[in-house]
Amino acid sequence: MITQKTIQEVMNTARVEDVIGDFINLKRRGVNMIGNCPFHDEKTPSFTVSPSKNIYKCFGCGKGGDSVRFIMDHEKLSFPESIRFLANKYKIQIEETENTAQEIEHKQVTDSLYIVNDFARDYFTDVLFNRSEGRNIGLSYFKERGFRDSTIKKFELGYATEERDELTKRAIDKKFNIEHLRAVGLTSKSDLDFFRSRVMFTIHNVSGKVVAFAGRTLSSDKKQPKYINSPESEIYNKRAVLYGLYFAKETIRKEDECILVEGYTDVISLHQGQIQNVVASSGTSLTKEQIRLIKRYTQNIKIIYDGDPAGIKAALRGLDLVLESDMNVKLVLLPDGQDPDSFMSQHGTEAFVNYLKEKEEDFLFFKTKLLLTETGNDPIRKTAVIRDIVSSIAKIPDTFKRTLYIRQCSSMLDLSENILNNEVNKTIKFDLKNKRLDAAAPLPSEQASGQEDWLNPKPILSSDEPSLIFNDAWQERAVCTVLINFGQKIYDENTGVTVAQYILESVQDILSYFDIAQYQKIIHEVAEQISKGHTPDHAWFIAHRNEEIREFAVNVLSSPYVYASWEKKEMFLQTQKMPEENYINDANNALLRLQLRKSRRVIKELKSYFEDASSAEMETEEYQINMKVMQVLIQQRNELANKLGMVTL
Ligand code: UTP
Ligand code: MN
Repeated sequence: MITQKTIQEVMNTARVEDVIGDFINLKRRGVNMIGNCPFHDEKTPSFTVSPSKNIYKCFGCGKGGDSVRFIMDHEKLSFPESIRFLANKYKIQIEETENTAQEIEHKQVTDSLYIVNDFARDYFTDVLFNRSEGRNIGLSYFKERGFRDSTIKKFELGYATEERDELTKRAIDKKFNIEHLRAVGLTSKSDLDFFRSRVMFTIHNVSGKVVAFAGRTLSSDKKQPKYINSPESEIYNKRAVLYGLYFAKETIRKEDECILVEGYTDVISLHQGQIQNVVASSGTSLTKEQIRLIKRYTQNIKIIYDGDPAGIKAALRGLDLVLESDMNVKLVLLPDGQDPDSFMSQHGTEAFVNYLKEKEEDFLFFKTKLLLTETGNDPIRKTAVIRDIVSSIAKIPDTFKRTLYIRQCSSMLDLSENILNNEVNKTIKFDLKNKRLDAAAPLPSEQASGQEDWLNPKPILSSDEPSLIFNDAWQERAVCTVLINFGQKIYDENTGVTVAQYILESVQDILSYFDIAQYQKIIHEVAEQISKGHTPDHAWFIAHRNEEIREFAVNVLSSPYVYASWEKKEMFLQTQKMPEENYINDANNALLRLQLRKSRRVIKELKSYFEDASSAEMETEEYQINMKVMQVLIQQRNELANKLGMVTL
């Protein structure tokens, strides 16, 4: 393992403008440098490099980070590989700790599993092309389906003979470990081959390694399952693999769209027909992990399903997950009984592309329509439909998109926009509350992808950040923004207290009232670091192991305009100084606003407690204490408002 010291040295040495300058042409603009983003197609440069902060950020596609992240994304390397890459560039000697025996063993085992799979892949493809059984049965079957040799080779299709243990025997002869063969599911407990008399599909992970196989039977025996798959293993997590992604990823990025189909043969047929941004979920509904994978390359998914009710139901089940991760989802239903593969072989690429264009439909509208046709005029069932749609809309993080959906769905549901809007807002609040109660809840989706205009900043920075319109998200975000930007600066010259220390102290009492888990987490992490005697700087946040914190840090570090917008929000005019010179003011204001919000909220909660109290309750000690608390809070609120120069109503 590379030592922490080396990693630090590389990170401190690597200048982001220098590293990126090796790959793209950067021009100076003010204190920053800009160029054309290498991660998405663009004509006007929105890829911005900040030498002073040592980060980059694309305001077109949202990608951002430090030098290491750039190398990881651009060169498709892992973190340690990227560190090696940069160490090499800067001639830094790499210091490594001895791997523990356990680490070595683990690495050796997973490496061996890949090697076993490679062996099996070679075996299956060899049988397909070079043995009469493979040629006569397997190859002729693929040919009949219209697959060309080049396609068959590219996808590494193969054939498993009817022999009971040929693969296993050969592997043992080659000194492969039987345990490894079992671990990837090629060999059964009784030492027999798992795949027999089947055409074979090789399943690759996103970097092209062979992680599993699927075998399709050619027999018409209904008792035989049509496809069997390798079991899950150390190297194969079904939920996190999409068939064909390795071959599709570049095109997905270029076309800015991912087409999702059900079957292996669908992927292969479309690829052969030059539609290469296609992956398959392999017969199940999409998982979170798969969505995350797709989201690395695009935000647009087009799901193609055959028109049978089972297919539609499966598709709908995945919908909320996809909406939640702020993807745009289109649906295309094929004519009954067709799948993309059969459509392609009957009508060809052009017809297929035209069909998609003509029939594609927004997924949520599709769902609304479908549910409505099912309910007819039954008012009770219609209410259920509305609830269902409302909960889907509430999952969409982007405010503007949500508004559009509300407008359109309200007319489809024959309901006023206002009512629908209220329902959606209630649901969002409810969901937020649940999230807050569940402190261990996973953070909102990963990876920033929001659009941001350098000169006309939208108040909402990244579509992946929590929505800012509910509760106190805005104010919590502002405090975190100051913390990340200026945490290390000195807040008080006399005592040497840093901005970070001051912020921590000020939010201590209200931290448990935070609405947004992500912001709460940031503060917790900083507190932990400080207790270890280290005040996190920009680099620490940007290199954070939690992807969301990292993305958030890049966002707030690369956008000084945030300040302008959050101050306008409450029509509160600040001095005109740049944020860099104004951080004490910014820290104070952000904290005051947040404290004000929280005290207003508690006051409101107490008020309703007083209003609802029965006369018996009024006699209790608790009631008396709360009255006193209320007085203190009101005074506090007024002081806060005073300091902020605001009128209390
Ligand atoms: P289909 O039955 O539609 O098969 O299942 P297909 O892909 O069109 O294959 P052909 O054209 O009949 O040869 C769709 C997908 O569901 C999964 C497979 O991933 C398949 O590609 N599936 C299906 C299974 O995993 N097991 C099965 O028994 C059936
Ligand atoms: Mn098919």
